[in-house]
Amino acid sequence: MQLINGDCLEKLGGVDTHSIDLVVTDPPYEIGTAGAGIYKQKDKSYIKSLTFMSNGFDKTVLDELVRVMKKINIYIFCSQKQIPLLINYFVKQRKCNWNLLTWHKTNPVPACGNKYLSDTEYIFFAREKGVKIYGSYQTKRTYYLTPSNVKEKKLYNHPTVKPQNILENLITNSSKTGDTVLDPFMGSGSTGVACLSKHRDFIGVEINEEYFKTAKERISNVLRA
Ligand SMILES: C[S@@+](CC[C@H](N)C(=O)[O-])C[C@H]1O[C@@H](n2cnc3c(N)ncnc32)[C@H](O)[C@@H]1O
Repeated sequence: MQLINGDCLEKLGGVDTHSIDLVVTDPPYEIGTAGAGIYKQKDKSYIKSLTFMSNGFDKTVLDELVRVMKKINIYIFCSQKQIPLLINYFVKQRKCNWNLLTWHKTNPVPACGNKYLSDTEYIFFAREKGVKIYGSYQTKRTYYLTPSNVKEKKLYNHPTVKPQNILENLITNSSKTGDTVLDPFMGSGSTGVACLSKHRDFIGVEINEEYFKTAKERISNVLRA
């Protein structure tokens, strides 16, 4: 377990080229700039980030992720708006195979004036030719239907905690015991906890000090149990 507090674009520079088996990550979906490298997140908190984010992240971060992966093998939680960018980067330019997985929430916020409900999150999966998928009939479904995890959000004081069972299935399907998984936008550390339960090594980066402390504590608690 290697947990790093800082901007992932800067910190990824310290990760060896071709050392990572799998990236599972959940970048901020949309960030508005507040100038001078300070970005306002959807949850209204501000972060100082070297990583210029357009629709959540930009090509520079993706280039760094491609550099550190042994072969492209990456899951990115994303919004509908980011899908064309990801298809262009991974499929058109790098000729990867891809899938789009979905997480449907059964209890979305009831805001639907002149638009559809915000009840679906997407997980874009890209893998270079030759990268294997493992897992089973039980772990390889392409959709999840669950209530939004309000309890975990409160417990870990983070607005976008992802469901543990989804992360565990992604890790099972795309890595082996002892492989190294990277999450450069670790948040409250959900990917790290899933790696512990599936016996994978983990590198996590988080820029926000409070969220970083939460992730460290969450992962330490699982290690101690
Ligand atoms: C959508 S959240 C991830 C939530 C996580 N999946 C969980 O279950 O807790 C994205 C996280 O990325 C962090 N972040 C934003 N910009 C970053 C950067 N440049 N480097 C590292 N972390 C960053 C945010 O502070 C936020 O906690």
